[in-house]
Amino acid sequence: MKVLAVLGSPRANGVSAAVTKRLLEGARDAGHEVIVYEIDKMKVNGCRGCGYCKSHNADCCIPDDLKDYWKQLHEAGALVVSAPNYFSQVCGPMLTFMNRHYCLIGKDHASRLESGKKLIGVFSQGAPAPYEAAENHYRWYLQCLSAGSMQVEEPLICSGAMLAQNGEELLQKAYEMGKSL
Ligand SMILES: Cc1cc2nc3c(=O)[nH]c(=O)nc-3n(C[C@H](O)[C@H](O)[C@H](O)COP(=O)(O)O)c2cc1C
Repeated sequence: MKVLAVLGSPRANGVSAAVTKRLLEGARDAGHEVIVYEIDKMKVNGCRGCGYCKSHNADCCIPDDLKDYWKQLHEAGALVVSAPNYFSQVCGPMLTFMNRHYCLIGKDHASRLESGKKLIGVFSQGAPAPYEAAENHYRWYLQCLSAGSMQVEEPLICSGAMLAQNGEELLQKAYEMGKSL
């Protein structure tokens, strides 16, 4: 199946990218086709609230670097997103990206996305262990992104400290998550 991945950190070799790349290695080893987007290298506008998606029952019409993404998302079996924690929240560009998924909610509030797609979030933070405020945001983020139809998996939370202490274990867990998609 097709696996879409959106890397949200501006640090191409940062913690979230390292863990997510390992997860995607697992997905490739399982025979999946992996398509990777790097949000920091893309032009992604905010939702304009124009209502086009509702009046036309269609994907977002903004002609930016998400143009191909919508079609790929409809075809994909899984979406993997990663983001660093900025002030206990998902970083700004990934919030902007998430807002655009408003187009997947039809005017009758039913999801326009075929159900059953898996949604996996990889979140990196400076704090050495998960903490409630951030964890609530990670879960809220995935719930919004899921457009009411994706199957949200347990978020994978990581940090530089976790990589330093239990790096192999963490990366292996990520790999297995990708392999079992
Ligand atoms: C603007 C900014 C705000 C941050 N705020 C937090 C925070 O509130 N809590 C936290 O645990 N880490 C915070 N961090 C640390 C990052 O989440 C951490 O360095 C993370 O590993 C970066 O992910 P990356 O390596 O994937 O880019 C912040 C970092 C930056 C640059």
